[in-house]
Amino acid sequence: MTTTHIRPLVAGNWKMNGLAAALGEATAVNEALSGSTIPADVMLCPPATLLSRMAEAMRGSAVRIGAQDCHPAASGAHTGDISAEMVKDAGASAVIVGHSERRADHAELDRIVRAKAVAAHRAGLTAIVCIGETRGERAAGLTIDVVNRQLKSSLPDGVTGANTVVAYEPVWAIGTGLTPSTDDVAEVHAAIRAHLTGRFPAEGDRVRILYGGSVKPSNAKELMSLPNVNGALVGGASLKADDFLAIIRAYA
Ligand code: PGA
Repeated sequence: MTTTHIRPLVAGNWKMNGLAAALGEATAVNEALSGSTIPADVMLCPPATLLSRMAEAMRGSAVRIGAQDCHPAASGAHTGDISAEMVKDAGASAVIVGHSERRADHAELDRIVRAKAVAAHRAGLTAIVCIGETRGERAAGLTIDVVNRQLKSSLPDGVTGANTVVAYEPVWAIGTGLTPSTDDVAEVHAAIRAHLTGRFPAEGDRVRILYGGSVKPSNAKELMSLPNVNGALVGGASLKADDFLAIIRAYA
């Protein structure tokens, strides 16, 4: 079965960037998109401090809001953490879990990522589950093994096309300006699709598989047109409305 029926998603991950003044970039994205017919969903994932203000500013618009992380528990004694329920309460509809920067900076293992995805589902959020190999793993020919292992251990049961998005982000491509060849991206996305349809027969071909890692206006169209690439997770290039809009327009 083909996956051309999947509506793509272009999500911007602001990471630890953005003070209140940066909300103007989100507003500019929204204004540029309003009235347009681009056949893609658009999401911005600001830092937690801007979640509710951005959600308020985007209320009623086509721009959805996502968070960058959540704690597995709904509430409790976890100083500094934010639960999926809080993310939802702030106005977001999705949360990124298992980003490689969190896996590296906070020693997040697959089972923690899985627990966070479970929390996202519990709260009614879409979990954007990130996976991807390191430079060394790719050099050793382990990419497909690593991706399959991460999928097996990071994805919870009950995955549907509505409650889960998978983001393939080669660690070595994030923020480096490097991207895999289009053949390599297509190969990994096909392997992810095979994993999803094998484990979730009714829903696996509905789950969006995003590519992330140095997506920019100049390469978006080529990457987004590959089979089983159902959108992008964009870091640096999502911080400026003009760049982010140029990426979204890969679908125009
Ligand atoms: P980048 O980041 O687009 O800046 O490479 C992507 C990501 O980490 O989601």
